Amino acid sequence: MNSTAKKRIAVVPGDGIGKEVTAEAVKAIEASGAPVSMTQFDWGADRYLKDGTTIPADGYAMLERDFDAVLMGAFGDPRVPSNVHAKEILLGTRFKLDLYANVRPVKLLDASLCPLKNYKPQDVDFTIVRENTEGVYVFMGGVFKQGTAEEIAIQEDINTRKGVERVIRFAYEYARKHPKPGQQPRLLMTDKSNVMTYAHGLWQRVFKEVQQEYSDVKSEHMFVDALCLQMVRDPRPFHVIVTNNLFGDIITDLGAALQGGLGMAASGNIHTGKTSMFEPVHGSAPPIAGKNMANPIGAISTAAMMLEYLGLQREAGKIDTAVLEAVRQKQITSDVGGNLGTRESGEWIAEHVAKM
Ligand code: NAD
Ligand code: IPM
Ligand code: MN
Repeated sequence: MNSTAKKRIAVVPGDGIGKEVTAEAVKAIEASGAPVSMTQFDWGADRYLKDGTTIPADGYAMLERDFDAVLMGAFGDPRVPSNVHAKEILLGTRFKLDLYANVRPVKLLDASLCPLKNYKPQDVDFTIVRENTEGVYVFMGGVFKQGTAEEIAIQEDINTRKGVERVIRFAYEYARKHPKPGQQPRLLMTDKSNVMTYAHGLWQRVFKEVQQEYSDVKSEHMFVDALCLQMVRDPRPFHVIVTNNLFGDIITDLGAALQGGLGMAASGNIHTGKTSMFEPVHGSAPPIAGKNMANPIGAISTAAMMLEYLGLQREAGKIDTAVLEAVRQKQITSDVGGNLGTRESGEWIAEHVAKM
């Protein structure tokens, strides 16, 4: 990554509300004065339906070669029931760029947004690190005797020592670098090793090995069912949680709910030192698409995460501050209790960023 020149960002808004929220994230980046150049790509359902392109032949190589980061919106359109374009654009970028750590912060910005009673921002503040290149997402498997009474469907869950070890190490390093003030860093690994004895037995063994090197971090384990209970009952003790691809997908939607909903949740798909990809946790939300209703904050906070990754901490900080102020002053969309549209909320934030 070039550390002095303008950072090069590829912007792929995608489908549905992805287009609307990404436009607002771009405004916030521009308002921050960040030294970046942004190039838009039209990959998504419309393009796929027009000419069959999901991602062009050299798309992944081009992203890696010509850009320092990628900002994506969301993919998914009822006109493409196979979801093939999402698989190739979104999952393809995660896999082909080897972005093995999906970092999804769960951060409550204001008590009014939390569905739990009497929980304050400092009570809901942890990060989920989701393995992002393995598990059931490798699409190994198939169906046999399809359509018959004897039909068999198999989908393999792939867990490699290399893959498990590197994401656990990433999560330990993350916990060390982002301690909660005055507290010992903690890393909780969650799995279902009581049932998935082979696949998650590997997670158990690797976790126990790697934790020896991080004695400054408190290492903990929970089965994922118990974790779901605890996330809702009292999320205060959590700091960093690491898990496999599928469990990470599921518990990050639960985490989003604790922050006020999917409209609030940001994420980064990261391989330190490489071109990484940033996207809000939510999908394309077809029922509210095109209605200027979607909450742009997940995408705008995602943009801040991206700028921070690119070394632009000051600009990222301005965006985070403006988002917090928008929430406090209720300059927000209806899903989080405001009465603004996507554009109005995004513009309020961008104007606030520009003033800083
Ligand atoms: P979704 O995230 O699109 O929507 C789930 C619920 O959250 C809906 O009620 C929706 O209205 C609401 N919501 C989501 N984002 C919001 C926002 N910014 N503001 C306000 N409300 C918001 O998930 P889904 O309905 O399960 O999936 C819809 C499509 O999106 C599917 O095709 C799915 O595969 C795809 N999807 C894509 C991504 C991605 O590209 N990263 C992630 C999840 C789902
Ligand atoms: C997410 C999404 C994706 C996933 C889908 C759209 C393939 O739910 O980013 O959380 O399962 O990873
Ligand atoms: Mn998901």
